[in-house]
Amino acid sequence: MLIKTAKYAGSYADVKDCPGVNAVEFAFIGRSNVGKSSLINFLMGRKDLARTSSKPGKTQTINYYLVNDSFHFVDLPGYGFAQVSKEKRSGWESMITGYLLHREHLACVFQLIDASIPVQQKDMEFTNWMGEHEIPFAIVFTKTDKKEKSDDDTIAAYKRQMLDFWESLPPVFITSARKDNGKEELLHYFEDILKSMKD
Ligand code: GTP
Ligand code: MG
Repeated sequence: MLIKTAKYAGSYADVKDCPGVNAVEFAFIGRSNVGKSSLINFLMGRKDLARTSSKPGKTQTINYYLVNDSFHFVDLPGYGFAQVSKEKRSGWESMITGYLLHREHLACVFQLIDASIPVQQKDMEFTNWMGEHEIPFAIVFTKTDKKEKSDDDTIAAYKRQMLDFWESLPPVFITSARKDNGKEELLHYFEDILKSMKD
């Protein structure tokens, strides 16, 4: 698939306000600072359509991007960011779970995992939560340009831990927005999903 056009299509603080259109959605979720907004820019071939920051907690609403005038990428706030107030954090978390559990046209959630740091319990809990709620998801490892050895260790350990809990692995993608890695595979996967939804 080629991404020919991408445009910002709105920000929403509550799933109830999200657009009531008939377009497929691919959502991106993960801990704050894992690289969700950067990956969305990388996929869209746009440097800064989604706002990114070296400080965690940048994306605070549910942000929609319309791609090829046909489907949406949805950028979500991060979970597990310790430096915001408990109240704000639980607000974001209910925004995220509300979105994930209630969007009719949500085709797949892409959970991003930072491959340059050890496996985080919070990520595993989130993966298991999606599995338990039967939300279709894939895993996307990010920042694989940072440290090659620890990337392999983290990726292998994450897969092993998923298999402790589940019988099979979800689709897994290895990416670096900085080094332009992993885009083709993800674009193929979006295309496969869109095709399967037409059948
Ligand atoms: P929140 O909106 O705060 O939840 O964060 P986010 O997950 O959207 O992360 P964002 O895309 O804003 O990126 C966070 C930081 O990670 C930025 O400083 C990015 O430049 C950096 N980053 C993102 N992707 C990569 C990558 O592939 N490699 C490296 N080395 N850094 C990256
Ligand atoms: Mg963001």
